[in-house]
Amino acid sequence: MTAIRSRYLDGWARDALAERPAATVLHLGCGLDSRVYRITPPLTGRWYDVDYPEVIALRRRLYPDRPGYDMIASSVTAPDWSSQVPADRFAVIIAEGLTMYLTKDETRRLFERLTHHLPHGVVMFDAWNSFGMRAGARQGVIKASGAELGGWGIDDPGDLETLVPGLEFVAEQTFFDIPELDRYGWPLRLACRAMNRFPALRNMGRLLRYRF
Ligand SMILES: C[S@@+](CC[C@H](N)C(=O)[O-])C[C@H]1O[C@@H](n2cnc3c(N)ncnc32)[C@H](O)[C@@H]1O
Repeated sequence: MTAIRSRYLDGWARDALAERPAATVLHLGCGLDSRVYRITPPLTGRWYDVDYPEVIALRRRLYPDRPGYDMIASSVTAPDWSSQVPADRFAVIIAEGLTMYLTKDETRRLFERLTHHLPHGVVMFDAWNSFGMRAGARQGVIKASGAELGGWGIDDPGDLETLVPGLEFVAEQTFFDIPELDRYGWPLRLACRAMNRFPALRNMGRLLRYRF
């Protein structure tokens, strides 16, 4: 599922960059993701990977430099990191596996700051609903990592439009009725098809896209 999430977000990001090759990409909570090397954005654009200082320090040891590519070592919730990003261009903001770790207030302040700082852009990320948030809190891998979930699930894409009035909802993508399902074994295929029938289950994790 994580690979599928990445594949679909890569597709959305490629489409956005095909339309706006000079865009500034902000890849928030990048972790060790190799997205910039997979997508190889046009050299006319800029790309910033943003994550905590210890993650960026590790990235710097692992990945080579690339023209137009830079990293910002900061929490995305810090008020000042976006001042390192020139505010002159259309922005493509990608946040994979991040929003579920932010509180509602942190999410609001982050997107308010970015939509005020940058002229126009698109925002794409995966989101959990309230049910997904409760289920996620029980996941062994999250407990073992010591990561804390933010506690705010996005049940309706309009919830974020209300929270951050500059954002306009554009599209969503569920993971439970995609062509790639045909390549799963039948038990998982069956489970996905069953989950797709119930909104609370279908929207446990999905991709959302907005513009501003
Ligand atoms: C589940 S990992 C996802 C990593 C990567 N986006 C991927 O999909 O492979 C969550 C990432 O978000 C980062 N993260 C969580 N909260 C953050 C914050 N407040 N500021 C910056 N990065 C954060 C973590 O350090 C981690 O790298």
